[in-house]
Amino acid sequence: MSDTEIRKGLDGVVADTTAISKVNPETNSLLYRGYPVQELAERCSFEEVAWLLWHSELPTPDELAGLQETERGNRALSDDVRDLIDKTPKTTHPMDVVRTAVSLVGAQDPVADDASEEASLAKSVRLLAQIPALVAYDQRRRRGEDLVPPRPELGYAENFLHMTFGEVPAPVVVDAFRVSLILYAEHSFNASTFTARVITSTMADLYSAVVGAVGALKGPLHGGANEAVMNDLEEIGSADRAEDWLDEALANKRKIMGFGHRVYKKGDSRVPTMKSALDSLVEHYDRRDLLDLYSALEEAMASRKNILPNLDYPSGPAYHLMGFDTATFTPLFVASRVVGWTAHVMEQAGDNALIRPLSEYNGPDERHLS
Ligand code: CMC
Repeated sequence: MSDTEIRKGLDGVVADTTAISKVNPETNSLLYRGYPVQELAERCSFEEVAWLLWHSELPTPDELAGLQETERGNRALSDDVRDLIDKTPKTTHPMDVVRTAVSLVGAQDPVADDASEEASLAKSVRLLAQIPALVAYDQRRRRGEDLVPPRPELGYAENFLHMTFGEVPAPVVVDAFRVSLILYAEHSFNASTFTARVITSTMADLYSAVVGAVGALKGPLHGGANEAVMNDLEEIGSADRAEDWLDEALANKRKIMGFGHRVYKKGDSRVPTMKSALDSLVEHYDRRDLLDLYSALEEAMASRKNILPNLDYPSGPAYHLMGFDTATFTPLFVASRVVGWTAHVMEQAGDNALIRPLSEYNGPDERHLS
């Protein structure tokens, strides 16, 4: 063995610079282009945050109006995308449907391989508009419900909920959804974003990068955790069972979904904002029982392992209360994170170097066929 230091999982490795977001686990802060994410979640629409991540500055009123017009004009699914979704079995995981449908959206773009910044921005807005439509339609057809067409007079978050549920819910629900989208939008070199950057570094097109990123997000150690959190909470059932459930799960070496983070070791900076959105939903839907269960597991995890929740812990039950099917939670994450992915695709393409690390060989010594 050589004395090369191997950083399993690239743990602690700084792979490149980025001007898009800054995660500081010491001060427990997350900045998008310099702005604390909490301030953005309090004051901005998701569309404004998307513009900020793509363009480095918040939009002027005219710029925002232009983005809204393009996003609203790109919301309708093509018949082909709808047919493709209809052809996937209802047993297919919704993340696989998103991955497949996004691939077709890309394949139908005549300028898919145009890597200019203008074309990349147009593709990013197209994905921003199309993903909610396909996620909403997929949930509806699984429930045996018809497609609900987009409403161009509604903002992004309202329209997403309208296309999913056939109505715009109460403002408290729309607001919690908007907050979750802003919090999920960007988080530096997480696994799916890094995947998008790796693909972009080969000079492949933006859609390929996004399809690959969707695949990386699916796993429960990353985006799939929000779905897994809800499955765990349902498995536990009630607050009084949380401690016993956790002790057994830990004894079986299970990873407890929605807890822990590669970067944040003293708590995820996004959790308090999402928790307060969850609190509003609990009050609105009168579901104190769910909050009690949430708190019981959190406290038990802190006492047993001293490991704190990540964003997926409050967002899982929040999406449940909003009425989404559990398997749709990670596609909601896609709808938001596509903004961060595409911002990183453009940053990577603008100053590209092929991402190609080395490995330390530990197989058999050289040998020859006899
Ligand atoms: N449940 C039980 N033990 C845990 C957990 C957990 N959720 N997280 C960390 N640990 C333990 C782990 O077993 C290890 O213990 P030991 O040193 O005794 O072997 C120690 O803490 C260090 O964990 P690690 O797996 O080396 O830490 P990591 O930085 O590689 O993993 C993680 C980070 C997110 C993969 C991990 O915390 C985890 O699996 N969490 C559950 C899945 C999850 O919630 N993922 C969402 C991540 S954040 C948002 C997102 O991307 O969606």
